[in-house]
Amino acid sequence: MLADVRPTPVYYYSSSSGLVRTFAERLGRPVFNLAEREHRRSEVDGPWVLLTPSYKTGNDANDTIPEAVRRFLRSERNRRQLVGIMGSGNRNFGRYYQKAAREIAERSGRPILFEFELAGTPWDVEECRRLLDELDEGLARRAG
Ligand SMILES: Cc1cc2nc3c(=O)[nH]c(=O)nc-3n(C[C@H](O)[C@H](O)[C@H](O)COP(=O)(O)O)c2cc1C
Repeated sequence: MLADVRPTPVYYYSSSSGLVRTFAERLGRPVFNLAEREHRRSEVDGPWVLLTPSYKTGNDANDTIPEAVRRFLRSERNRRQLVGIMGSGNRNFGRYYQKAAREIAERSGRPILFEFELAGTPWDVEECRRLLDELDEGLARRAG
């Protein structure tokens, strides 16, 4: 057993429809809503995971990443400590499915850890909890 396993926090953005928030609050670990100014303007104290929905605006030049997520990622410290990305989307958006998560993954070089639709199913929640627990252990091992 590893003595110091830190639960990796999840920073998420959720609009007023709250689908991502519903999912995030089921993860059983520290989660922070970037829709709140206090969190959007904060800096992380260690490795963290981003959970973002995609919001297509109808303008190709104006992409799908929520402004609050952009704001948080402006911090170099936050960018450096980002370990992976999870996305919520809706397959009805076709080629734009999970576009925000995928674009951030591409730009940051960090992996997509998990993708689900809307607020996710109970299976999605379980699976995500499991993989985040694994991530925690992996990071603890890496830290020695
Ligand atoms: C106006 C609008 C645009 C959306 N655009 C996309 C999109 O481009 N790609 C995608 O995968 N999902 C898209 N979605 C689906 C949302 O990302 C998904 O429903 C998400 O769970 C919303 O989370 P929230 O309720 O926490 O904000 C869109 C939803 C709305 C209402």
